Amino acid sequence: MTLDKELLTNLAEQHSTPLYVYDGDKIIECYRSLYQFIPYPKLKIHFAMKANYNFAILKMLNEAGTSLDTVSPAEVLLALKAGFSKDRIIYTANNMTENDVKNVHELGVLMNIGELSRLEKYGRDYPGSNVCIRFNPDVRDGEDVKLMTAGDMAKFGILLDQVDTVKAIAAKYNLKVVGLHEHTGSGLQRTESVFKSMKNLMSIATPENFPHLRFMDFGGGFKVPYRPDESRVDYVRMGAEIAELFTDFCKEYGRDLEMYFEPGKYIVAESGVLVVRVNTIKDNHGHLIAGTDSGFPQLIRPVLYNAYHHVRNLSNPDGTLKTYDVVGNICETGDYMAERRELPEIREGDLLAVENAGAYCYSMGGVYNLRPMPAEVLVRNGKPDLVRRRLSNQELIDNILSESL
Ligand code: LLP
Repeated sequence: MTLDKELLTNLAEQHSTPLYVYDGDKIIECYRSLYQFIPYPKLKIHFAMKANYNFAILKMLNEAGTSLDTVSPAEVLLALKAGFSKDRIIYTANNMTENDVKNVHELGVLMNIGELSRLEKYGRDYPGSNVCIRFNPDVRDGEDVKLMTAGDMAKFGILLDQVDTVKAIAAKYNLKVVGLHEHTGSGLQRTESVFKSMKNLMSIATPENFPHLRFMDFGGGFKVPYRPDESRVDYVRMGAEIAELFTDFCKEYGRDLEMYFEPGKYIVAESGVLVVRVNTIKDNHGHLIAGTDSGFPQLIRPVLYNAYHHVRNLSNPDGTLKTYDVVGNICETGDYMAERRELPEIREGDLLAVENAGAYCYSMGGVYNLRPMPAEVLVRNGKPDLVRRRLSNQELIDNILSESL
């Protein structure tokens, strides 16, 4: 493992804690592995940059040839700055404003639209454009109910049985539907859900309905294990089945289309670690609480989704096992990273590594309680580089003051 305890301890001493550290080689390896798992020649992987928008990681992925899934005009601007060409970016925001649409359209990025009313407005304002349509695949799956993005109750995508209305709007404004899209959820529990969603989308993707298709985009959601005892999805089998399904579909459609996936977690989750330092140990009648110098604004997944993040005691890995709540420094009771977790004895001053912190950790961060976000280090070929610094308290305050009128 590249991010071993010596390296993380040295980096924590050098850059102070809390600190995010990413294994860049592992990110590239994960990205490339998808091409091995899914043996379809016209496969294109779009990285869902909402999972991690670190600029150095984006530049690295750009060099590796990745495409991008973006969800806001600022994400598109950052992607362009990182070197991604506009034809390698898809814009899949929901509940877009007129301004968002105008900005992104003018940048020449393909719009993926998931609401009938937005499609109508887009056609009216930009007739003759190319467009991708996001459908709701009608399959419920995901690591948590908050991470399921399809089914009747979901705000995303157009219902499959509204395909005739989509066709009518496209015809009215001469829109060319070049892609169809679906996304089922994040951390899909069953490979069967991936296949079912693909089949549901393919069922409406006939040449009669959509004669101009260039690609089909089946979203993200590939699951990675978060718990040490959790088994890994058999991606070789899954990928083979995906390729077979799509090859058969293309035969029926009459042309070899491109196939897109847009994973976030799969590419970056396992590459990242948040290193925190324990400042306080509290023993409440035997209930041990380890208080750290980070908190939920810097890693919100346990609080928001009840997500499990494995914790390693870097400073005392062989200590006697004891049960702890690992908590942060935020003035809220729910501010925990791990609850009732068995860990080698934690002493004040120990460093802990919170694992699988590469996806949706820094990127979902904030400065609640006015603590600057941690710095970020990217390790490539064993060589660590500080790629994003931590704002000083003064800089954080200066930002607030500069925004205050
Ligand atoms: N494509 C679309 C349209 C999406 O909405 C998402 C995630 C992805 C791709 C990438 O999904 P992934 O491969 O990363 O599962 N904050 C949550 C995950 C939210 C994902 C939202 N959309 C978490 O920390 O688990």
